[in-house]
Amino acid sequence: MKIIHATDYEDMSRKAANLIAAQVTLKPNCVLGLATGSTPIGTYKGLVAKYEAGDLDFSEVSSYNLDEYRGLTGDDPQSYRYFMNDNLFDHVNIDKSRTFVPDGSNMDAEANCAAYDGLVGAAGYPDLQLLGIGNNGHIGFNEPDDHFSCGTHCVDLTESTIEANSRLFDRIEDVPRQAYTMGTQTIMFARQILVLANGEKKAQAVHDMCFGPIAPSCPASILQLHPNVVVIADDEALALCKDKLA
Ligand code: PGA
Repeated sequence: MKIIHATDYEDMSRKAANLIAAQVTLKPNCVLGLATGSTPIGTYKGLVAKYEAGDLDFSEVSSYNLDEYRGLTGDDPQSYRYFMNDNLFDHVNIDKSRTFVPDGSNMDAEANCAAYDGLVGAAGYPDLQLLGIGNNGHIGFNEPDDHFSCGTHCVDLTESTIEANSRLFDRIEDVPRQAYTMGTQTIMFARQILVLANGEKKAQAVHDMCFGPIAPSCPASILQLHPNVVVIADDEALALCKDKLA
């Protein structure tokens, strides 16, 4: 794992946008694995700015998002499809028909997940997978468990994730209890993985991801086994790693 220290959220976002821009420049028809949440918003802003400056062309890029709430349609402002349109896709020249997010409105979990795995697999898996990390060490919606997950599947969200995500909803009761998520194995098929983390709430998860035992109690710890992972984290998120990085 290569750990890059960022001073703050803006610095993390700038560095991440630069890495993704390099990927798109080097391989214009690359496959990007994309993430939602508060963490990547600044990165997406940076990519939009590079596009507007004429420095980036998304016309041949395709993208596959990690996850989606089960039961939400893509035009629901709380859905991850809406988030992606709003934060990135509507502002760059990506072909929306080549942007994929699991279909939250399809309640047939088995068929929906198998279809999504088929799509990601047929695309050859992401060249670059962007990841945030949950306060509890989850990646995508792969929550702490007694085993690592394989392909796309339907999960029951943990209380800690429901609480963390409730800040984006009017009421905690409105947070969906289930989600579709790419599995841990699918994430590991990406050729490069870029993990972003900022803020003190992520410090324990970042420590366990990078230096803890490889265990499904911290799903992100499996990334220690991936040959090409870059972590960009700010001061606060790296607070518990200082001894190890010195
Ligand atoms: P956040 O979520 O970016 O909103 O902190 C990260 C995650 O849960 O993966």
